[in-house]
Amino acid sequence: MRKNIVAGNWKMNKTLQEGIALAKELNEALVADKPNCDVVICTPFIHLASVSPIVDASVIGVGAENCADKASGAYTGEVSAAMVASTGAQYVILGHSERREYYGETVETLKAKVELALENKLLPIFCIGEVLAEREANKQNEVVAAQLASVFDLSAEDFGKIVLAYEPVWAIGTGKTATAEQAQEIHAYIRSLVADKYGKEVADNTSILYGGSCKPSNAKELFANPDVDGGLIGGAALSVADFKGIIDAFKA
Ligand code: 13P
Repeated sequence: MRKNIVAGNWKMNKTLQEGIALAKELNEALVADKPNCDVVICTPFIHLASVSPIVDASVIGVGAENCADKASGAYTGEVSAAMVASTGAQYVILGHSERREYYGETVETLKAKVELALENKLLPIFCIGEVLAEREANKQNEVVAAQLASVFDLSAEDFGKIVLAYEPVWAIGTGKTATAEQAQEIHAYIRSLVADKYGKEVADNTSILYGGSCKPSNAKELFANPDVDGGLIGGAALSVADFKGIIDAFKA
């Protein structure tokens, strides 16, 4: 069966020293009080090589927030999937709405990134989600279906390695969380799209995380839904107390 996962996305926060301190503190807290779900921290590139060796890999996975759409070569400033993997990281967030909106990521670049991530044995956390105007026009299903279709070229085996994250853009960093009903409804729809394409078994095994103003106070209600398999956490992942509060939503 699919895994429950709580993943942190640190975004562009924390100096190297602050990031190391945060990872150490989280590691201590989770080694002392083992989580009932998989935990992943996705950090800026420069933190990966320092953070990977200081966390207990049986408790915390490490991931990047992006990778290049090219394998190697003259692409100044880019970081390849192979480089990410060489730090010991196991995951990479791809297609975050901030990357799509501010850095012009397209379906084509994302396809290339997903393929390179998988070739380098990184597990993509692939983000989809509508903006407010699309939700207001009741177009959220169309939007997520189109975004998801961009990874439907993959074989069932490769698709099976992907974690999906539904992040309504209107809920990211706004304090406006999707209601548990809204999350369940669209997660169930996303799972049905996966089932239509790859069959029920692959769909049942796909973890679909919710992201957008997830906090200790709303995590339990969100994660209690049958199709919400955890969260992708921004702001609240920057504090051990808050992040652990969300992780503990999977405890009785
Ligand atoms: P917030 O939890 O800060 O709303 O961010 C969500 C997010 O974008 C995670 O990728």
